[in-house]
Amino acid sequence: MSKPRATITAVGHYVPDKVLSNHDLAKIVDTNDEWIRTRTGISERRILEHGATSDLGAGAMKALLKNRGVSADTVDLIVVATVTPDMFFPSTACLIQEKVQAKHAWGFDVSAACSGFLFALITAAQFIENGSYKRIVVVGADKMSAITDYTDRNTCILFGDAGAAVMLEPGDDPHAGILDHILRCDGSGEKTLHMLGGGSLNPATRDTVDQKMHYIYQDGKSVFKVAVVGMADVSAEIIERNHLTGKDVDWLVPHQANLRIIDATADRMGLDKSKVMININKYGNTTAATIPMCLSEWWQSGQLRKGQTIVLAAFGAGYTWGSVLVRWTVENAA
Ligand code: COA
Repeated sequence: MSKPRATITAVGHYVPDKVLSNHDLAKIVDTNDEWIRTRTGISERRILEHGATSDLGAGAMKALLKNRGVSADTVDLIVVATVTPDMFFPSTACLIQEKVQAKHAWGFDVSAACSGFLFALITAAQFIENGSYKRIVVVGADKMSAITDYTDRNTCILFGDAGAAVMLEPGDDPHAGILDHILRCDGSGEKTLHMLGGGSLNPATRDTVDQKMHYIYQDGKSVFKVAVVGMADVSAEIIERNHLTGKDVDWLVPHQANLRIIDATADRMGLDKSKVMININKYGNTTAATIPMCLSEWWQSGQLRKGQTIVLAAFGAGYTWGSVLVRWTVENAA
């Protein structure tokens, strides 16, 4: 008997109501709407005023369960990608499990920054393919506003808060579901993108707080260069090794860090801009949530349809990066 294929059977997302526009940011740091839009593609982002990442993840998981029409206690496993866990421990997966009352699920968190959703998705897919579980929820959620310095114009313009989730279940069509993946790490990238304080290297003290080590640090220019090459290369590689061309791809679903990185990736794949999911203008970079957010919004609007071939691609801190080839299996939105 052939092994089951991991297939995505539902999507869902959750964004907080509060909008932080470029114009709002221009009132608190030395920046302007035009600079932010032309350098990044971002116009506004969402901010969670009360609550934590588990609230974003639980909101997404509730939407997902509703879309799939199943109850929380049918879920076997919850895998959460995040760099903004509610706390070091317990894991955000445990907190979401309690909030949605997924009584029969166990769970754990995955840390791979902006590539976190892809790392979590592929980890979860193994449990479907080896026959261990029948229903897994993969959540990408980040409350980036919790680790953003709103006096630093280099970073505060980039990030937003959101949660999104997909459901994985076994399928028997070898040509549908998660077909291939490429995942990579290069730890030499640590110096250009990190949050230094609060961990075992620099436990939180007055001094670490005074030095703002509990906020994101990014050398944007250095990250930009490697992100363009990294994301473009793995996206091109995955279609080539599956004997596809840009013409065979219905959608590129890129991590939303910067519109210029997204454009470069589409160019490298020979893909028309009309086939690229882009919502960075509305949400900014929501780290682990960007890719499942796109999937959920494009499915909901009826543009992402069963049978379509899509490439998910991400690049993030670590460095971490990767691409995943999927034939879409969610029933079309009503
Ligand atoms: N408003 C106005 N000016 C700003 C600004 C802002 N918000 N932020 C920076 N600037 C200024 C800089 O101070 C600099 O001024 P100077 O030339 O006088 O020193 C100038 O604009 C250019 O800054 P630079 O950092 O070179 O801009 P950039 O074109 O590289 O864009 C990023 C900055 C962060 C948008 C871009 O580098 C980026 O997207 N990097 C990658 C992000 C990413 O992919 N992360 C990966 C995973 S999360």
